[in-house]
Amino acid sequence: MAVDILLGLQWGDEGKGKIVDVLTRQYDIIARFQGGPNAGHTLEFDGIKHVLHTIPSGIFHDEALNIVGNGVVIDPVIFKREMDELKKFEGNFTEKLMLSRKAHLILPSHRMLDAASEAAKGNKKIGSTLKGIGPTYMDKTGRNGLRIGDIELPDFKERYNNLVAKHKELIALYDYECDLDSMEKEWFEAIDFLKTLTLVDSEPYVHNALRQNKKILAEGAQGTLLDIDFGTYPFVTSSNTTAAGACTGLGVAPNQIGEVFGIFKAYCTRVGSGPFPTELNDKTGEDLRAAGHEFGATTGRPRRCGWLDLPALKYAIDINGVTQLFMMKADVLSGFDTIKVCTKYKYRGEEVDHLPYKIEDHLVEPIYEELPGWSEDITKVKSVDEMPASLRSYIEYIEKHTGVPVKVVSVGPDRTQTIHR
Ligand code: GDP
Ligand code: IMO
Ligand code: MG
Repeated sequence: MAVDILLGLQWGDEGKGKIVDVLTRQYDIIARFQGGPNAGHTLEFDGIKHVLHTIPSGIFHDEALNIVGNGVVIDPVIFKREMDELKKFEGNFTEKLMLSRKAHLILPSHRMLDAASEAAKGNKKIGSTLKGIGPTYMDKTGRNGLRIGDIELPDFKERYNNLVAKHKELIALYDYECDLDSMEKEWFEAIDFLKTLTLVDSEPYVHNALRQNKKILAEGAQGTLLDIDFGTYPFVTSSNTTAAGACTGLGVAPNQIGEVFGIFKAYCTRVGSGPFPTELNDKTGEDLRAAGHEFGATTGRPRRCGWLDLPALKYAIDINGVTQLFMMKADVLSGFDTIKVCTKYKYRGEEVDHLPYKIEDHLVEPIYEELPGWSEDITKVKSVDEMPASLRSYIEYIEKHTGVPVKVVSVGPDRTQTIHR
């Protein structure tokens, strides 16, 4: 059996959590492969809304196992809080969860470094979620990091102290005030909690599962345009959010990958700084934000909104080898007389249909085509036949331009508001 991947094609928050939850019934294992508590994945069912940050979105199903893979960075405090939150609900969540020993740990001092680095950037801020993501991945690639497996070693505290000593020197360079001691007690309590969970060598675990014909879904965090290599650098996150990241983040070979589900909103959003060619700084943008409740699941920040950007979408499809598209939040477009789609850019005076190296406002101007909108509320639509004709045309238009079938259309946040095509 192959590993299927579900990942975001835009700047994150496409609705990955909802769809992983919907698909979990078809899988034996759900595995997060990168990112950390910068992610906020929302699931809604039975009138309850859950937001997960590190825990994979398959956790509410009894049959599936959930793995936090080696490519993920874990903040023990946030992780423990998430697990405590689950105690309100029925189910033995700890039994269905495994952490890779090779996943890296976010230390309180990583969070401090993140805050100090952002503060020092002034108006060039990345708009980071300040969860310590960048500094933790820097320590990983700099070969200084601490991993989940290290908490089982007798000299863990010493390793921790050595790394924190390095961090303190760095923080001093930023001239940043912080009180680490007060955060450490909670962090070490959370480490003790992690020790009670199932820590595994996740790569052989996954390989054995594949040999036993188990079905695995790899759950991405963030989105393609936030990828460290392929996103709108430097306004990106610090991991590979793309299909290649599923290989390195789980230890799965490229020839073991099956379907790649690419998920996108029927429009576009971005939270944090960085270029966004189709951004609407007007009433239409505000209307999209209000209709889509576009406020961050992790930080509560208002998300920037704009029209669908096809050159960016096609780029993301190519980078990931997307085999099926899932279009989210179609219901949010109800009531717009016309819907605009960016098909090309004017870039340095010329028309181009690819994503140029730099897409800052002064270099790139989106060129739009206009499509008819629909006025109907579609949140109760259950099948393609019930869809307004303009919505069907919108979907077909996207399929024609991308060459990839749109297999799922989401018309509301609930599990049940999902149409398979
Ligand atoms: P993720 O990070 O990709 O998992 O996405 P988020 O959870 O951060 O943001 C998606 C938001 O849209 C959440 O509040 C979801 O409940 C909501 N959502 C998901 N699908 C739909 C949909 O089809 N329609 C509407 N109106 N909301 C949706
Ligand atoms: P999910 O998985 C949307 C953005 C931040 C910031 C940049 C870097 O919910 O889709 P970081 O904290 O990684 O240093 O922030 O990336 N960002 C996200 N935006 N959804 C996310 O995750 C994000 N995770 C990070 O806003 O611009
Ligand atoms: Mg999110």
